[in-house]
Amino acid sequence: MAWSRSEMLDAIADEVRACTRCRLCEQRTQAVPGVGPHDARIMFVGEAPGEDEDLQGEPFVGRAGQALTVLLSNIGIDRSDVYITNICKCRPPGNRDPHPDEVDACREYLHGQIACIRPALICTLGRWAMQTLLEDATLSVMKLNGQLIERQGLTFVPLIHPAAGLHNEAMREPIKQGFASLGQILHSRQ
Ligand code: URA
Repeated sequence: MAWSRSEMLDAIADEVRACTRCRLCEQRTQAVPGVGPHDARIMFVGEAPGEDEDLQGEPFVGRAGQALTVLLSNIGIDRSDVYITNICKCRPPGNRDPHPDEVDACREYLHGQIACIRPALICTLGRWAMQTLLEDATLSVMKLNGQLIERQGLTFVPLIHPAAGLHNEAMREPIKQGFASLGQILHSRQ
């Protein structure tokens, strides 16, 4: 019998947990496939797991994750209703930016997850997720923050990464504005 999309998503997660496609498998505690309902309407895609995520096996459970939870709740979204993942499923050592070949190694997993979940909206968190999913390394997240973008049959809203506001107070307002714009987009599409 054919597999359901939910079963395929579970199979991707199993493959991610055992993945040795790039060097990031060598230093990880565990890979972080993603979390959330398999039929979520909204999907959030960040950059890569940090230390807390690497230890717990879940995306966005550290300080950036707490900020994400608050930003979502401010626009009436319960984080348990959305699917959350990253472009890279393993922690880069010292939280460095993922290398292009590491992003490439994970690309099939991410596209598989999107194909299984079929979200109405994909929110990218930060420059790396935006540039990877929109396949354009020249895009500026400051310019596209909170805007609706249609590409290849998918709908995206790029957002500034919540972690940007943790150390830089000046980023907190644009981050809030991006999420407020997401709230309005969701409201207008209900
Ligand atoms: N930052 C990310 O981009 N992803 C996480 O899972 C945690 C922090």
